[in-house]
Amino acid sequence: MTALTDMVDYEVRGEVALIVIDNPPVNALSHGVRAGMVEGLAKAEADEQVAAVLLVCKGRTFIAGADITEFGKPMKAPGLNEAIEAMENATKPVVAAIHGTALGGGLETAMASHYRVGVSSARFGQPEVKLGILPGAGGTQRLPRLVGYPKALEMCVIGNPIGAAEALEGGLIDEVVDDVFEGGVTFAEKLIAEDRPLKKIRDLDERVNEARANRKEIFDGFRRKIARRTRGFEAPEANIRAIEAGLDMSFDEALDYERQLFGELMAGKQSIAQRYYFFAEREAAKVPDVPRTTPLRKIEKVGVLGCGTMGGGISMNFANRGIGVTIVEAEQSRLDHGFGVIRKNYERTAKRGRMTNEQVDQCMGLLQGVTDREALADCDLVIEAVFENMDLKKEIFASLDRIVKPGAILATNTSALDVNEIAAATSRPEDVIGMHFFSPANIMRLLEVVRGEKTAKDVIHTSMTISKQIGKVPVLVGVCRGFVGNRILFQRQVQAQQIILKGAKYYDVDRVLYDFGFPMGPFAMSDLAGLDIGWNEKESASRDIREILCESGRRGQKNGRGYYVYDAETRASAPDPEVLQIISDFGSAQGIDQREVGEDEILERCLYPMVNEGAKILEEGIAIRPSDIDVIWVNGYGWPVYRGGPMHWGDSVGLGKIAGRMREFQAESGDDFWQPSALLAELADAGKSFSDWSAG
Ligand code: 3HC
Ligand code: NAI
Repeated sequence: MTALTDMVDYEVRGEVALIVIDNPPVNALSHGVRAGMVEGLAKAEADEQVAAVLLVCKGRTFIAGADITEFGKPMKAPGLNEAIEAMENATKPVVAAIHGTALGGGLETAMASHYRVGVSSARFGQPEVKLGILPGAGGTQRLPRLVGYPKALEMCVIGNPIGAAEALEGGLIDEVVDDVFEGGVTFAEKLIAEDRPLKKIRDLDERVNEARANRKEIFDGFRRKIARRTRGFEAPEANIRAIEAGLDMSFDEALDYERQLFGELMAGKQSIAQRYYFFAEREAAKVPDVPRTTPLRKIEKVGVLGCGTMGGGISMNFANRGIGVTIVEAEQSRLDHGFGVIRKNYERTAKRGRMTNEQVDQCMGLLQGVTDREALADCDLVIEAVFENMDLKKEIFASLDRIVKPGAILATNTSALDVNEIAAATSRPEDVIGMHFFSPANIMRLLEVVRGEKTAKDVIHTSMTISKQIGKVPVLVGVCRGFVGNRILFQRQVQAQQIILKGAKYYDVDRVLYDFGFPMGPFAMSDLAGLDIGWNEKESASRDIREILCESGRRGQKNGRGYYVYDAETRASAPDPEVLQIISDFGSAQGIDQREVGEDEILERCLYPMVNEGAKILEEGIAIRPSDIDVIWVNGYGWPVYRGGPMHWGDSVGLGKIAGRMREFQAESGDDFWQPSALLAELADAGKSFSDWSAG
């Protein structure tokens, strides 16, 4: 074995030259990999003994893409396209042998080889769209020539990978092998023995002709299908255009066009935000004082208290990963109801073809429902999800302390109560932690893991780890009312309510926030959740718009009237002039002057307080880093990922501008709500950003 670079080795076995990439953790196409590939190919070309080349990777995966850390910097030669050209133009057959994931530039490299083999667990994808870009090394041209245009559109524009069976069927790989080294060499020897030709994907035109004949159906149909899902994003349409260009241009012209679009997207704000977010999500898993070497507690059996909206969803997460759950309810009837809801959820998934009936039964079989808390005695992790009531939670934790075995983790799913107070109800506060799931808990990826004053480090490490294992994105936060997500949301709600009293139309506020990229605005959201959540009829005294709406029989979507009126059949919403009048009358009664409020001001008043609250959260040490707040808002509240999250967005607007506007609002209203937090003011006055800040 010869080292070509510090990331690539070279070896000749019989007539096969092996180019072996070793660039942990994911064999990204860093400079050393590209240089090694080019050098290895030249060596193999020059060696008369060599009749075929095998490109293969060490470690856990084949090449998982370009090195994202190199993006935005000048590319050091050789570039990826140079390496790819060297492969495609090699005079000896090149085989890529794939295990783990061949993603992005990794799959493009494989497609520039003449043949591809993969192990049965390998996955293949063009996920660039998730980074706000498109495949920039021929993926938009080679992939459709292999798997067909409809499949290539789906793979590039949605960005999800496919498995080996599908790859084999679609022609993306030529054979499934047991082992990339052994199987790859054997395959290469077969090519030599059979004197198989150099198969260049660029020369395949059958799929191109097929697509030309059905162009409208394929492209217009696809655009319609994904319109809602990709609203606001630039990269999906650019991916489609690049792929479609293959029908009108020569292969090389289309490659140039792909590269041009790639460059434009890469320089754009959306991709910068999406790449930032990629690393933010991975950073969130790291807790400075809880290193990866911290011991893990064993979690084999889980208990959940409460089988309502949250308890049922939480339990499903564990069952989905094959972990058994004992669910405790106060009454058998509630248990039966909760299990009915869980089964229905699973059956709906099965109907959509995302799980088999057997898997439904398997998951249901992992759930055991009881009404006796004693059944939790041997659980390793117990998650409490009963009503949001401190006395009840304290009573439950005191009894869990008596019942559950020592060393178990006791978690609460409270959305706002003080985790320290709950922990103090036990004799083992170090074992108590918050695990704040979001609704629907079986679907939403965000999980705020709430660290109490006394929570032990191994409890934090285990909770973060198990959260990842059940498919969540855990973010560690500290104790405060509403934790990070809801605390920031509250600021937006307060301002949304204020601004409509000043004369902004509630539907304009919703529209502006929807156009910004949120799934819906605050008033539509209130209607969806139900205006009467937390409303007490007896105590209601027309103190705010919500109370007045509830008093007038408006409950939101559930009874067809809230801020909007809803069509009984189509559920289409329309603004309600009566609600406008209610708001206007209430504002006047409060002595508020009403006026036109422009779109920019709506955004400023709704979003700047969120950025400011994020700054306070950092000052107080409730979140570890600004990007953690962004991960929470992107995953839990639909902040558009192409704007990075409130803190990244704040930086992109400029903290000086935000603090300046807040000071203007403060001076104008005399309301200290608008006073920039100490951290925001400090950064703004120094011309700095949140990205310059770190705790310490
Ligand atoms: N470049 C640089 N670093 C990368 C990387 C990449 N392409 N992919 C992953 N990493 C890093 C991560 O940041 C992480 O670093 P850390 O340990 O310091 O936090 C480490 O590798 C491990 O990553 P994960 O925690 O995500 O590991 P998993 O095992 O959960 O997932 C994976 C592995 C499926 C490969 C996942 O990392 C992934 O999806 N990576 C991105 C793949 C991608 O988007 N590829 C396309 C890149 S763009 C491109 O190729 C352009 C081309 O068309 C020209
Ligand atoms: P829910 O009312 O749907 O369910 C609560 C369940 O707890 C009920 O089925 C009830 O019978 C059961 N229960 C009550 N006392 C019990 C006891 N002593 N022993 C066993 N079971 C008991 O409420 P939901 O929405 O599931 O909320 C549960 C917790 O999750 C609350 O703390 C809430 O704040 C929190 N939460 C709720 C979210 C939501 O969107 N609904 C989001 C995140 C957290």
